[in-house]
Amino acid sequence: MPKSRKKTNKYESVKSKKPAVNASKGVSEVDSLRAEIIVLQKQVNILQAISEITAKDFKLSDILDRFLSTVMDATSSEAGSILLVEKHTNALYFASAKGGKASQIKKFKLAIGEGVAGWVAQTGKPMITPDAAADKRHTTRFDKNLKYKTRNIMCAPLKFDHDILGVIEMLNKKKGKAFDNRDLETLLIFTPYISAIVKNAGLLTDNKEKIERLEHLMGITEYVNSTLELDILLDKMLAASTHMLQAEAGSILLLERDELVFASATGAQKETIKNIRVPIGEGIAGWVAREDRSVLVADAQNDPRFFKKADEKTTFKTRSIIAVPLKTKQRLVGVMEVINKKGGDFFNEDDKNLLEALANQAAVAIENAKLYTETQDMFMNTIKCLAETIDKKDNYTRHHSDGVTTYSMEIGKALGIPDAELKELKIAALFHDIGKIGVDESILRKPAKLTEQEFLEIKKHPDEGANILEPIPQLKDILPVIRHHHERFDGNGYPAGLIGEDIPMHSRIISIADTLDAMLTDRPYRKGLPLETCIQEIQHCSGTQFDPEIVAVAIKAIKKYFSKKVKK
Ligand SMILES: [Fe+2]
Repeated sequence: MPKSRKKTNKYESVKSKKPAVNASKGVSEVDSLRAEIIVLQKQVNILQAISEITAKDFKLSDILDRFLSTVMDATSSEAGSILLVEKHTNALYFASAKGGKASQIKKFKLAIGEGVAGWVAQTGKPMITPDAAADKRHTTRFDKNLKYKTRNIMCAPLKFDHDILGVIEMLNKKKGKAFDNRDLETLLIFTPYISAIVKNAGLLTDNKEKIERLEHLMGITEYVNSTLELDILLDKMLAASTHMLQAEAGSILLLERDELVFASATGAQKETIKNIRVPIGEGIAGWVAREDRSVLVADAQNDPRFFKKADEKTTFKTRSIIAVPLKTKQRLVGVMEVINKKGGDFFNEDDKNLLEALANQAAVAIENAKLYTETQDMFMNTIKCLAETIDKKDNYTRHHSDGVTTYSMEIGKALGIPDAELKELKIAALFHDIGKIGVDESILRKPAKLTEQEFLEIKKHPDEGANILEPIPQLKDILPVIRHHHERFDGNGYPAGLIGEDIPMHSRIISIADTLDAMLTDRPYRKGLPLETCIQEIQHCSGTQFDPEIVAVAIKAIKKYFSKKVKK
């Protein structure tokens, strides 16, 4: 290495390509060649460093961090940062920062046009400010906030084709010096590489996210077609939407007359939020319902439309929201919202488009599920009315069907019967005595012991009940339950004398519930018995009249039910 070359670091300032004016032409040429070699060597070093960085890291933030360190080293900068343009806000955010107050600066953003970095992003031109205090383009906002003194700045745009992707900014040349053109030349060797990486990372992330979102959307379409239970559907829809949009929380509000009602919400506070009503036109959701269009709100707390009631009821703090209308071809059914992008990030237009696509799916599914639920409710109400008609035939057993249903459901739940089967158990319990409709009222209301003939009449009611309901296809599964609700576990019951597990399980449950309600209720010839006596009697009949395994569970369930009732 020639003695004349002062060794500092391997990125020492780029020497001018112009040869120095020298007395001897020969010496001048040698110097010129030497300078060229140094420049080339420096470039090779930089390119080597670049290839090392890009070969080692795959994560954009890591690559940017490493680039920044290398550039700072090459330009002897005290501090530096890479700021990227945030698409939806069109502001610059700190993607990487090192030296100075780097750890604190990342929370700030810079408008395009604000400060030296903003100026470079706006004009697309690199620049050097040897004295920041004297340059009007320099913003003192960060220096003041972070108690840092910026003396001089060097900044270059990160461009790809004609797009400005961001800027790279160096602050305060070390040893009290100022940046010069050689530093800028060095910086400009790096910028095309950083730009290409930023651009590619954006494309890669976009594609990966798009594929993931498409897959989710397909999954949701499949799911939507597989459930008609409104509550389950809403919860699942919301879970999928918040997951896909990386949202901290979300809610679905359904339209009920002139108001929106929170029908589903995510997170720990979901039960608190549920059933809060929002008038049309009020709050962001109310605005969406009135205007019939989506909205992306970046700063909810400072948006006059924001309805603070939901936040006040919980400890949740809403930052940003996307709200979209849920509408079918015919009408608006509600509003879906997602709240706060995870990781302190902001929602963008792509997110809004995705939520709109989800909302289209959700609206149709909600409409179908509502229709189904309404039909189900109507069906259950009709059954209840019929059951009451039977109960009214006998003043003393007025609420018998209700009681048997309640106890059957408690026992069923304690046995871990799935929801769909519990619904069948409920209908069977409500209808178990429908056959009594054909029994003479004088027998049903007789306050004294029944004659053998009268008892034979009564014993017909399980078969009669099953026969009455037979024409209804939806009830075909409960017919055996009704037919056998007076069988005994030991085979001494009626009408078929079935034994043990040959008796339908739901009949074995209703049998216990039926006896319990009969014992607890006042009769013309006796008062209702105390709960403890009833339980003892059921226990006593375990294995003879009743299934012993169900009795064990039933007694616990009944005790629990009554202790809760007393507390209420
Ligand atoms: Fe009965």
